Formats: sequence, structure tokens, C-alpha cells
Amino acid sequence: MARRKKVYEGKAKILYEGPEPGTLVQYFKDDATAFNAEKKDVIEGKGVLNNRLSEYFMNGLNNIGVPTHFIKRINMREQLIRAVEIIPLEVVVRNVAAGSISKRLGIEEGTPLPRPIVEFYYKDDALGDPLVTEEHIIAFGWANQQDMDDMVALALRVNDFMSGVMMGVGIKLVDFKIEIGRIWDGDFMRLVVADEISPDSCRLWDMETGQKLDKDVFRRDLGNLADAYTEVARRLGVLPTNSAPLGKPTLIN
Ligand code: TMP
Repeated sequence: MARRKKVYEGKAKILYEGPEPGTLVQYFKDDATAFNAEKKDVIEGKGVLNNRLSEYFMNGLNNIGVPTHFIKRINMREQLIRAVEIIPLEVVVRNVAAGSISKRLGIEEGTPLPRPIVEFYYKDDALGDPLVTEEHIIAFGWANQQDMDDMVALALRVNDFMSGVMMGVGIKLVDFKIEIGRIWDGDFMRLVVADEISPDSCRLWDMETGQKLDKDVFRRDLGNLADAYTEVARRLGVLPTNSAPLGKPTLIN
């Protein structure tokens, strides 16, 4: 069978044409990048884990009525998704200070925030994804006022869901990033969670030890990234307990 047509290739994923109009196949690579791809490596098994984990989170969101682009997982590295028009923003929700907010505002990492804080970054690698305000977003037409309200509501619902799921397995959801897309049904447009939700796009700290179980392990050279992601998957029950080394076809299909 001829390989599907590639529609887009990003740093960690590839999108191919889907089997039906309005669908795409999302392929998870093993590539890891940080600091706008200044730091790069290939982490064997990462794509398999992120495919699983994103399936788990997106399914959970779909089941509680938070719309996502996710349709179904196809195999170890691929999932079927609805094609969306991505809004060019990274939507970040923070519960605890870490990363760029700590640096920018001088707040010690680990400080709980008084309430979840929603931030928007303009998706542009050449500019290093700068922080932007509602003023910029509306003035430049990336989204309108209604979209802003809907995006904040969507992001906070994802935060509530993800915080609860992670707390159930002893992990604190420090922060995360989502992307949001538009789907049209005729003239009617709705916003859905798109891209992926995985330890690549979240900060996850063990509630007892504070151990980092997310991409900061790679960004900050703290150990083996695949081991950290495997631990998250194991706790959530999406890995068999006696799993063989990563990347091998032993994950439950
Ligand atoms: P930050 O503290 O570096 O701004 O990151 C906030 C959250 O967003 C963190 O969970 C990591 C995630 N993130 C991405 O998914 N992609 C990115 O390019 C960046 C900078 C952060």
C-alpha cells in the first residue's frame, strides 16, 4: 500500500492524510527537542508512550464532554484525529510556579499559585513563541473575544480533569500547554483541544518526592526521559506491569 501523503511535519509528530475527508493520522516520533530545538535527541520509545498517554487523556476529556480532535488510536505510534484549523497560540495553564513564570517574575519554583493562571504564547518558532496578551490576540485577529472566553474555559476544564487524574496516581500537575483548533459544521464553528497532551507538554511532579516525570528531565539533564514517561504510563495503567523495554511491541495494543 502506498504511504499516505504527509501533510505536516513538526518537531515531535507528523501528520498524514486520513482515510476520510476531515481526518488526519497523527504519528508520534521519538525525537525530543527543547529550547526551540537548540537541544535535540532521539529517545527510543517516547513516541509510543506519548501516543498512549495522549490517547488516555484525550479519551478521558471526550468522555466528560470536553471536545478534542481525538478519534481513536490506530497502532503503536499513530492515532486518527479530526482535522482542525489550529489557532496559532500555545495555551498554558499553571497551578504551581515553574519554568518561564519563575524566571520572568522571580517566583521560586514550587510556589503554589493563588489560582490557576492561563497564559497565551504566539506560536512562532522564529520568534521563540513569545508571551502575548488578549490585546495582541484580538488586535491581530488570531482569535476574537468569544474565542478567548471559550479558550480560557476549555483550558480550565482540561486543568481540572488533568489535575484530578494525576492526583489519583500521586502526581502533581504543575502546569501544561495545550493547542486549540477550530472545527466547522456548516457555518457553526466550535473549538476543540488538539495536538497532544503528554509529559512533553506538562510538568508532572511526584507528590511525595518531588521527582520530575516530564520533559524537564530532558531539558535539564536529570536522567532517563523514557523511564520517567514509563512511570507515568505505568501509574495510569496504560502499560502492562511486566512491560519489556520500551519501543518493543509489548505494549497492549
Ligand atoms: P514554560 O514554563 O517553559 O513556559 O512552560 C510551560 C508549560 O508548557 C510546561 O508544561 C511545558 C509546556 N511547553 C510546551 O509544551 N512547549 C513549549 O514549547 C514550551 C516552551 C513549554
